[in-house]
Amino acid sequence: MVTTGSIAEIQALITQFKSEGKKIGFVPTMGALHEGHLSLVSAAREKADIVVCSIYVNPTQFNNQDDLKKYPRNIDTDKSLLGKNGCDILFLPSDEVMYAGRNTISFDFGDLNKLMEGRYRPGHFSGVGLIVSKLFNIVLPNYAFFGQKDLQQLTIIKKLVEELFFNLDVITVPIKREPHGLAMSSRNERLNQKEREEANIFYNALIEAKSILTKGESVSEANEKVKALFEDHKAQLEYFEIVSDHDLLPKTKNYLEPDTVLCIAGFIGDVRLIDNMYLYGN
Ligand code: PAF
Repeated sequence: MVTTGSIAEIQALITQFKSEGKKIGFVPTMGALHEGHLSLVSAAREKADIVVCSIYVNPTQFNNQDDLKKYPRNIDTDKSLLGKNGCDILFLPSDEVMYAGRNTISFDFGDLNKLMEGRYRPGHFSGVGLIVSKLFNIVLPNYAFFGQKDLQQLTIIKKLVEELFFNLDVITVPIKREPHGLAMSSRNERLNQKEREEANIFYNALIEAKSILTKGESVSEANEKVKALFEDHKAQLEYFEIVSDHDLLPKTKNYLEPDTVLCIAGFIGDVRLIDNMYLYGN
């Protein structure tokens, strides 16, 4: 695996590979890698000839400076995991390379900015749009791989690719879960054993709501059930939404459809977790 933090160097490598007709698969990450990330790398390994990963903790997508400071960073372990799991090129840029002191462009994704995550994390998706656009322009991948766990991010990135004519396919990779259902996330590293057990409530709430809805019961019954689960529980529910996967708008009627996805977010202590599940599927 070649590791570089230089735009010129990575572009020279990619130009060379592309001139040989090789397809580039790209997995952008913020590090603190877990099996969920490795499933993105293995999907890229299957589809592309050259696998490029990036690790960059992007400051502009953190609306909470404390969260940025506490975001787990394990660069040596990450490098060794990527090396063993089929990454060919690791792009590891500095803040200076990515922003050079500039931070003047912002993105507005319309309603997608205001719903769910957007409501609780002002500016987050603008930062994601900015960094992902920069990374796409640097790496020029044929395929880019993103996890279903960050469903709203995925929807926003698909919009970005379509509207800005990025010449690449966005590939969605299913959520990886811990044995009791907790969705894998870099933030799980900040939970102790007891908190990890408590965090299973997010998965359990999705399963309960899914079971209510697939029986044909109402959206308000599912909402009530989820609220009741969080009462007297250590976890704090921020939102539970039943939405369509294309526009993320809430579904109240006609929810028994294949695009219906249940989304949840909340806190265990000061660690914020999100999860989602299709009504029919994972
Ligand atoms: O999903 C993430 O890890 C980040 O939001 C991403 C896409 C790497 C952009 O910083």
